[in-house]
Amino acid sequence: MAKYTVVSMPGDGIGKVVLPEAVRVLDAVGFDADYVHAEIGWERWINDGNPLPQATLDLLKRHKLGLFGAITSKPKGEAAKELRPELRDKGFVYYSPIVGLRQAFNLDVCIRPCRSFPGNPLNFIRQKAGGGFEEPKVDVAVFRQNTEGLYAGIEWTDPPQQVRDALATHPKFKAFEHVRSADLAISTRVFTRNACRRIVEAAFRYAKRHGYHSVTVCEKPNVLRETSGMMEEVAKQVHKDYAEIQLWSTNIDAQMMWLTKNPEDYSVIVAGNMFGDIVSDAFAGLVGGLGFACSANIGDEVAVFEPTHGSAPKYEKLDPPIVNPIAMILSAAMMLDHIAETDKAKAVRDAIASVVKEGKVRTYDMMRIPGGPDSISKGAATTTQVTDAIIARLG
Ligand code: IPM
Ligand code: MG
Repeated sequence: MAKYTVVSMPGDGIGKVVLPEAVRVLDAVGFDADYVHAEIGWERWINDGNPLPQATLDLLKRHKLGLFGAITSKPKGEAAKELRPELRDKGFVYYSPIVGLRQAFNLDVCIRPCRSFPGNPLNFIRQKAGGGFEEPKVDVAVFRQNTEGLYAGIEWTDPPQQVRDALATHPKFKAFEHVRSADLAISTRVFTRNACRRIVEAAFRYAKRHGYHSVTVCEKPNVLRETSGMMEEVAKQVHKDYAEIQLWSTNIDAQMMWLTKNPEDYSVIVAGNMFGDIVSDAFAGLVGGLGFACSANIGDEVAVFEPTHGSAPKYEKLDPPIVNPIAMILSAAMMLDHIAETDKAKAVRDAIASVVKEGKVRTYDMMRIPGGPDSISKGAATTTQVTDAIIARLG
């Protein structure tokens, strides 16, 4: 029997293309694991009315490690129309299974490293004052609180009277008292001190272990005084144990501007769920975008690793496949780090770095050409060729 069993959840669309590529790399680097397939996503939604089957949860509970590809998400009305006819109008409501997975196992610490690979033509460049361009080195890890905040799922359109009554105890609700319930939509933003502490502590621990000089809390405490305020307050407390690391604070809006001015100044960023979602995409955009954006969802028992791109269904059926497998492979490397297979993780990342730097084998995104059936004839590499090139460079 292998040392580890990994639950493989390809999900939808290109998730099914890139996940097996990551497994090929894991095999090639000598990772001793068996893989069990688990279903998640659209197929299960339309057939069972539940995109996250209990069997998948059971497998994860048992094996503790998961690789996840991608899922298709649609707004609840559209999703309901695609249910198989027998299930329609039976009260099934679509929810995002990856958000459900994070919450089911309290995978509350989300890590999203955004590091530029030298030679990547998609790296952010900046105009220099005296003319010409420069390419700042981006080396950021976003720590996103992964289970609560605006994603807690406590929301209503047409809220019941008790909810209105409760809200009416707040003086600011006066402004909405005249609005008919049918015309009122409410999404709550719930922060708990415990979850704030866990994400902030994880961020500082990581900064210390990897020698980063700062941790930046990226919230909006001047307006969201209670929730963002709590995150800031907790950060100040936790910082007391990390005197050698600076604690910075930015507002999410300003951060989105600064990150294209001076991205090299930032190292570890910590944020609530929604702002973490936003700021991690923004930093990913500086280092190659979705083809390079990897992530880890970590709880006390279970951990799931996923590229942050979507399922891109239009690319799923292309033969040969053309999508960039690097985000998925980098996510698999994060799994290796998580279980202290650090040398193997480094070998995978070094192999990717070498392929990117050499620049001979590039998917369409890295060539800045449109993705489609003719990408290959225009010189783009296939998904498989990129993986093969990475495997060929594993030391
Ligand atoms: C991400 C994605 C998800 C999220 C979606 C697919 C629900 O954007 O992982 O960043 O919002 O968390
Ligand atoms: Mg996102």
